[in-house]
Amino acid sequence: MSTASKGLEGIVAADTQMSFIDGEKGVLEYVGIPIDELARHSTFEETVFLLWNRRLPSRTELESFQREMRSEYDLPAPIEKIIETFPAGAQPMHALRTAVSAMGMFDPDPNSVDPAQYRRKALSILAKAPAIIAAFDARRNGRLVTRADPSLSFAANFLWMLNGKRPTPAMERAFDVCMILHADHGLNASTFTARVIASTLSDVYSAMAGAIGALRGPLHGGANEGVMTMLNEIGSVEKVDAWVEDALRNKKKIMGFGHRVYRAYDPRATYLKTLAEQLSKDTGNERLFEMSRRIETAMLNAVAAKGIYPNVDFYSATTYHSLGLKLDLFTPMFALSRISGWAGHCLEQLAANRLIRPDADYVGPHDVAYTPLAAR
Ligand code: SDX
Repeated sequence: MSTASKGLEGIVAADTQMSFIDGEKGVLEYVGIPIDELARHSTFEETVFLLWNRRLPSRTELESFQREMRSEYDLPAPIEKIIETFPAGAQPMHALRTAVSAMGMFDPDPNSVDPAQYRRKALSILAKAPAIIAAFDARRNGRLVTRADPSLSFAANFLWMLNGKRPTPAMERAFDVCMILHADHGLNASTFTARVIASTLSDVYSAMAGAIGALRGPLHGGANEGVMTMLNEIGSVEKVDAWVEDALRNKKKIMGFGHRVYRAYDPRATYLKTLAEQLSKDTGNERLFEMSRRIETAMLNAVAAKGIYPNVDFYSATTYHSLGLKLDLFTPMFALSRISGWAGHCLEQLAANRLIRPDADYVGPHDVAYTPLAAR
């Protein structure tokens, strides 16, 4: 009889000082600061400093960290050349995973787990990830690559490289808030993946590549693309109720809803809903927001009693669409931000490391005789 906790539900596998989540109350804090406070007042760059240093930076420290991050925006020529070989039809998350892996091959000392070295490499991956996505998108559309601009913030630089034009302050702020909201979230599947890889003392490139692989799954970070596909499939507000009813009757999982930890509204979804409503109005996408709101009402009527509420992915779909991002770039957006959380957790793991190796209950047969091939 198996004693395994399916999906490791409820199993505490590590201590962390980065995110606190109260699933019953719908609370998320980064190093004790409520996510709503950070979304209102912070920036992604400052939030990365907070997660990695467990405190907010002074003005001087923030400016120094910004300079350090922005000095790393550009891709080395060999990585740009590799991206040029990627097939135009490749998936952006595969492009990101492959380019991050390739970065490790051009690092003269890829395997260092010295904390300062590991942090420096992680910052380089974080700072270059936007350029990887933008370079791949330019390549697949037959456009020239727009070079990074170190005078711009992380958020503005990505939108500049992707679109070839400066974002409006409102667009930059909206994207920056999305980056804050997606940065860290306890021991989710992709973060756990990164920590397992770090616990073997493998290199940071392998940890980030493995985590990217975990994130792209539709039950995890891939859900934001699934939400957009669902909205496109439903097509109109009038069709929402029947579509949701039919999906639930057929035991389909509605993308953007439910969570292993939250049994209440995901506080990030609350903030993203506000962002989605404003951006959809500003960009003529009200229909999408109205559909999302209708889906939420239909789901809350049907399954809130089971503790199923909108999660971070539900309203990020309308937000990203209103920001003009292509559907298959939604999950890479999640990755751009979450690299900061993965790296912070790997540094935590290395600071007090023990190889992560859970047990399994053997539920197969014993004392089985070997049958020679001739007799099978
Ligand atoms: C993220 O872990 C994190 O922190 C992740 C994340 C982060 O920041 O890193 O927050 C980001 O990954 C958010 C989740 C994105 N995924 C989705 O939106 C995909 C749809 N959601 C579901 O697949 C599901 O809710 C999970 C995977 C998120 C959680 O699944 P669990 O905890 O394994 O729960 P379960 O699948 O066992 O479901 C329990 C019950 C089932 O009903 P019963 O069989 O008991 O009758 O709830 C139902 C499920 O059918 N259910 C849903 C549902 N989610 C759960 N029913 C319909 N639609 C859904 N979305």
